[in-house]
Amino acid sequence: MKELRDLLENNRRWAENKKSSDPEFFTRLVEQQSPAYLWIGCSDSRVPANQIVGLAPGEIFVHRNVANLVQHSDMNCLSVLQFAVDVLKVRHIIVTGHYGCGGVRAAMEEQRLGLVDNWLRPIQHTSHHHRHELAGLDDNARLDRLCELNVAQQVKNLCNTTIVLDAWSRNQPLSVHGWVYSIRDGLVRNLNVSRHGGEA
Ligand code: CO
Repeated sequence: MKELRDLLENNRRWAENKKSSDPEFFTRLVEQQSPAYLWIGCSDSRVPANQIVGLAPGEIFVHRNVANLVQHSDMNCLSVLQFAVDVLKVRHIIVTGHYGCGGVRAAMEEQRLGLVDNWLRPIQHTSHHHRHELAGLDDNARLDRLCELNVAQQVKNLCNTTIVLDAWSRNQPLSVHGWVYSIRDGLVRNLNVSRHGGEA
């Protein structure tokens, strides 16, 4: 139980520090959230959304799953997307993958990990689709390139959801972006696959 006690102690200290540096911090957050961004990222513990882009609580709406996938049958991801776009009216959706992603690697190497193999299946379609480009790369470069291609595919998937299409058809300003984060140096690379609609 020591580990959990540590977490609660960390929490108490964090809340105190926040209050002493900004006495209105929690009062402001209780009022409402109005984030301008939706982050769709990997569950990987090394890729924390808020810290990477330096945003405080209340500033970014976050959905994470293994290998940052947007699947049209995933009620969880679609519900987050719908709420973010229709209710919170975020202006930007950012799919952020990361180099060396274990989920992408498992799909690429056809590892058998269990149920998650089914979740990761669409990455194999992406890999197959780009097989000629990927075949010319060594193992590490192939994994990193597939991490990028996977993000680009999720941007496309987002743009084909009824939620994004409907937002654009009513001229709601909304952009969808694809980024990849490097655990090696902490930097984000823009893949330049952004799509814009509405008055964005
Ligand atoms: Co990952």
